[in-house]
Amino acid sequence: MEYLFFEEIDSTNLYAKSNLDKLADRTIVHAAKQNSGRGRLQRSWIDLGGANLFVSFVLKPSEEFRSVYSNLTQYLSVVLCKIFEDYGLTPSIKWPNDVLIDGKKISGILSESVVCGNKFKGLVIGVGVNLNASSENFSLVDKEITSLNLEVGEDIDLKIFLNRLTDLFFKDYDKFLEQGFRMISKDYISRANFIGNQISVQVFNEKVSGYAKNINEDGELVISRNGNDIVLTMGDIL
Ligand code: BTN
Repeated sequence: MEYLFFEEIDSTNLYAKSNLDKLADRTIVHAAKQNSGRGRLQRSWIDLGGANLFVSFVLKPSEEFRSVYSNLTQYLSVVLCKIFEDYGLTPSIKWPNDVLIDGKKISGILSESVVCGNKFKGLVIGVGVNLNASSENFSLVDKEITSLNLEVGEDIDLKIFLNRLTDLFFKDYDKFLEQGFRMISKDYISRANFIGNQISVQVFNEKVSGYAKNINEDGELVISRNGNDIVLTMGDIL
């Protein structure tokens, strides 16, 4: 594993994508401050001040894209849950990969594939975790959010958290690429507490509402509406 650190950067994902050719497989790009952080669905990821985590995993698992790569963010959400549980918390997963504490978002994951022409070059999976955010800055974000320091009532050691994250991620990474979502299915579903609820999902410009029935063996969300199953591969639960 290679490790690259920046005091300040626009976005660790952007850096990793622009420099992918030079970066080895399993490089960790870490920044102390990020001034143009990117989120899912064209949103931004705001630096909330304090020692929060901004990190991107550079992965070059093969010459061809495989569908299991799309499930890596779900694998990572389970890894994050296990770490938060070690801090005594009870996290939940909001499909596909947000981790919440008491319904408040504590971390976000953005996976981007790098393609040149039609050749797959690799993946950049960015993770942002509110580790030591100050609640005064929460009004900068239009969502209910929280931070690990506020949940456990003390400052969080960023290095310990990052080491735990990389260790746990790479511990079963190769096995996950072989086995796919079924390897984490139980761990994921047991924390996905929206299952069984009436939900609405924003899918591009469309809103799909119904009963959250399950997460299938490919990690997709199955919604039941008027007796019909709708299978979603992407979207945002509202
Ligand atoms: C989301 O929930 O919308 C995903 C947020 C991902 C944020 C992280 S912070 C490190 C990495 N660099 C970025 O610009 N974004 C990701």
